[in-house]
Amino acid sequence: MKTMISGIKPSGQLHLGSYIGAIREFVKYQQDYHILIFIANLHCITLPIEQEELRENLRDCIAFYLACGLDPEQATLFLQSDVKAHAQLGWILNCFTYTGELNRMTQYKDKVKDKNNLITGGLYTYPTLMAADILLYDADYVPVGEDQKQHVELTRDIAQRMNNRFGELFKVPDPLIPKVGARIMSLSNPEKKMSKSEHDLKGTIYLKDDPASIRKKIMSAKTDTLGAVHYDPENQPGISNLLTIYAALADKSLKETEEQFSGMQYGEFKKQVADCVVSTLEPIQKRYDAIIHSSYLHDVLQHGAQKVNQRALDKLNRVQSAVGLALE
Ligand code: TYM
Repeated sequence: MKTMISGIKPSGQLHLGSYIGAIREFVKYQQDYHILIFIANLHCITLPIEQEELRENLRDCIAFYLACGLDPEQATLFLQSDVKAHAQLGWILNCFTYTGELNRMTQYKDKVKDKNNLITGGLYTYPTLMAADILLYDADYVPVGEDQKQHVELTRDIAQRMNNRFGELFKVPDPLIPKVGARIMSLSNPEKKMSKSEHDLKGTIYLKDDPASIRKKIMSAKTDTLGAVHYDPENQPGISNLLTIYAALADKSLKETEEQFSGMQYGEFKKQVADCVVSTLEPIQKRYDAIIHSSYLHDVLQHGAQKVNQRALDKLNRVQSAVGLALE
C-alpha cells in the first residue's frame, strides 16, 4: 500500500478552503492508502499567536478531522510536536537547503510583504520543517492544495540532493493536487485565496460558521455584471469560485456544474450554492459539537503518535548516521 502524508497548520480557524482542498481529500484517500495526517503545530508558531488561541485551534483541528470523517482506525492522526524526530530532521535538512531556495518560496515572500508580520527565523525555514514532515515517512504522495505545491517541490529537491550525496536515503514524494477545488478563493475578494490569516471575515466561510452566516456570506459574495453563470476564472473570478465550491462539494465536474446552472440568475445560483455548503457543514458541525469536549481527542492523538514514533526515529537515526553525525 502506498503511503500518503499531509497536515494542516491551524494558526487560525479552519475554513471551507481547508475542507475542500485538504480534509475532504484525506477522507477520500483513507481507505486505499496508508495515510498519516498530522496537526502541524510547530508550524503555527512561525508567526505570533497567543497560547490560548493556539490550544483552542489544535483541539478544533483534531475535532474537525474526526467530524469530517477521518477514521483513526484507517488514518493515523497525530500532533507534530509529539513526534520529536520532525524538528530534529528539520534541523538537518536546514543544513542541506540553500538560502536562495528559501528566498524563492512565494508564501514566505507574501508574508514578508505584509508589513504587519514580524519575520522570524522559523518562518524563513518553515519549508525545511515541512520537508522533514514528509521525508521522515518515505511518503509516496502528499495531498495538498495548490498553494503548497512549491513546498513539496522543494522537498523533492532536498530529497534528491541528499540521495545523490548519501545514497538512497529518502523516497522522492509527489504532490497530489485536487482536480477541482485546489484553490478556493475569498468570497469578498475572489482574486485572493480563502485563508486563515487574512482576517477576511466576509470572504471566508469558517467550518464553525452557523447556517445564517454562511448564507449571508455567499449571498453577498462578489460577482460581476456579466449576468451569466460561466466558469471563466479570469473574467468572472467570483462566479467561477462559487461554481468550484459547488462542483467540489457535489462531486461533479466543473463542466457539469456549469451546465446545471447555465441561464440561472445570480441570486438563485448563489442560493443553491449556499444550500449545498450548509447541507455539507451542518452534519460536520453536529459531530464536532458532540466530541469537542471529549477526552477522546487526546486519546486519538496519543495513539497516533505512538504508532509513528518508532518509525520516525528509525529514519532519523539512519539519516544521522548517513550524514556522519553518529560514531561508527
Ligand atoms: P495550511 O494549513 O495553510 O493548509 C492546509 C491544507 O489546506 C489547503 N488549503 C486550501 N486548499 C484550497 N483552497 C484554499 N483556499 C486553501 N487554503 C488551504 C492547503 O493547500 C493545505 O493542503 N504548510 C502546510 C502544512 C504542512 C504540511 C506539511 C502539508 C506542514 N507540513 C507536510 C503537507 C505535508 C500549511 O500551512 O497548510
